[in-house]
Amino acid sequence: MQKLVADPFRPNIHFTPPFGWMNDPNGLVYVNNEYHLFYQYFPYANKWGPMHWGHAVSVDLCHWQHLPPALVPDANGMCFSGSAIVDWHNTSGLFDNIEQPGVLAFYTACIAHDNGRDSDQMQSLAYSKDGGFSWEKFSDNPILPNPGLNDFRDPKVIWHSPSQHWVMVVTEGQEIGFYRSQDLKHWDKTSNFGLNDGKHDELPWECPDLFPIQLEDSDMCYWVLIVGVQRGSYAGGSGTQYFIGQFDGEGFTNLNDAKTVLWLDYGHDYYAAQTWSDTGNGHRTSIAWMSNWLYANDVPTKAWRSAMTIPRELKLAQTPSGLRLLSSLPQNWGNQQGSIIMQDHTLRIGESLFANQHHQTGILEGEFVLSHGTTMIFSPLGNASLVYTLQRLEGGYLITTKRTIGIEGEKNYQDHFAHEVSLSIPEADSIQLTAVIDRCSSELLFQQGEFCITDLSFASDKNGFYVRCLKGHVNVRHMSFVPKDHF
Ligand code: FRU
Repeated sequence: MQKLVADPFRPNIHFTPPFGWMNDPNGLVYVNNEYHLFYQYFPYANKWGPMHWGHAVSVDLCHWQHLPPALVPDANGMCFSGSAIVDWHNTSGLFDNIEQPGVLAFYTACIAHDNGRDSDQMQSLAYSKDGGFSWEKFSDNPILPNPGLNDFRDPKVIWHSPSQHWVMVVTEGQEIGFYRSQDLKHWDKTSNFGLNDGKHDELPWECPDLFPIQLEDSDMCYWVLIVGVQRGSYAGGSGTQYFIGQFDGEGFTNLNDAKTVLWLDYGHDYYAAQTWSDTGNGHRTSIAWMSNWLYANDVPTKAWRSAMTIPRELKLAQTPSGLRLLSSLPQNWGNQQGSIIMQDHTLRIGESLFANQHHQTGILEGEFVLSHGTTMIFSPLGNASLVYTLQRLEGGYLITTKRTIGIEGEKNYQDHFAHEVSLSIPEADSIQLTAVIDRCSSELLFQQGEFCITDLSFASDKNGFYVRCLKGHVNVRHMSFVPKDHF
């Protein structure tokens, strides 16, 4: 990660824009052994503005090289969110060099009208002949004109092998529209999904993703549809839900009843998750915008605004609650060698671990056995602004997030989030935790990543994380911590 501007909040191990504003990840595609990350970008100020596609590449999903913006607004509008694919067989007919596979980006061109509320949104195409580095917009845009909807955006394109078609999923108000194509330029509508399924609020859904996934330890294949919810997420404001079902190339069938709501993350700051296309390694790797539309424009960073989450690998598993996606760090991500290790250590009332070590960045892996009635707390940044209380109760666990005042005077930011959020975790012998801590953020992946909680915290009193036992006792079966302060 290049260090660009000294800033007490700029993360060490998370992707941030060099300067200016960032929101959703876009166009995630793996080409010629590099992961491309495009993102919603306004380079000229630290608030949302006319959208460009920012651009960076990485070979390990860990260290990123910043590149010039790939798409910039023009007379056809701003460049809203979308996706990218490798056109291996030149089905678009836009490429002539068989040595260098063509790359296509699908984005929403958006023209905002003067009243600021209405806009024209249509799906557009850009292509790259040099493996994703330089881009040209297709001359016959839009490839999918607006059918008369105020919200018609965020195209995700995939290849559906069983039906030998390309498929596009796109937000259509409070539903997802499904389209298909043979040549990536002409698209036919096949269906809609979701008007009565999952979580809705007064605003349109956003940023869909659709992919097949194999159930762990089986050869059963399911389909996952990811959808962003703008206001009604678990912790309030923006959040990311998913559906598990089947997709036949034309329509999606939800396997759960319509009322079931599944969240990829239960924290305040996890939105617009997308997965990389064309990785060819069978892994489903995702990344999300680590912020929330409730206050993203007001967080107390100056030269830059917003980070991405760490990349997370998604697996589908059968759990006691049913089929669920589990999130984990990609294998060998950040070259994790536990440099501080503990085994079979008992923490009694009032005892703490790691207090005063001053690490603001690092990755913790641990397993904790809480006796019944035990309460322990986890303070990822060692301050009072973000504290997780974990209780073992009759029949399960309760995690309570207390997120309070950050920096004095940052009222715009802190008045707009829930200050207390609780999450139940079903009964289990132990609590297994992977925590990624990074200067202004905490990502907690509990129980093999079935329950993830991602939260920002901007407080000046940063002391390094600690774990403390408040009641009962905790057996730390094992724990490792890898400081990443100088990544
Ligand atoms: C989601 C979103 C998208 C849109 C983009 C604009 O965060 O609202 O629906 O394409 O941001 O920046």
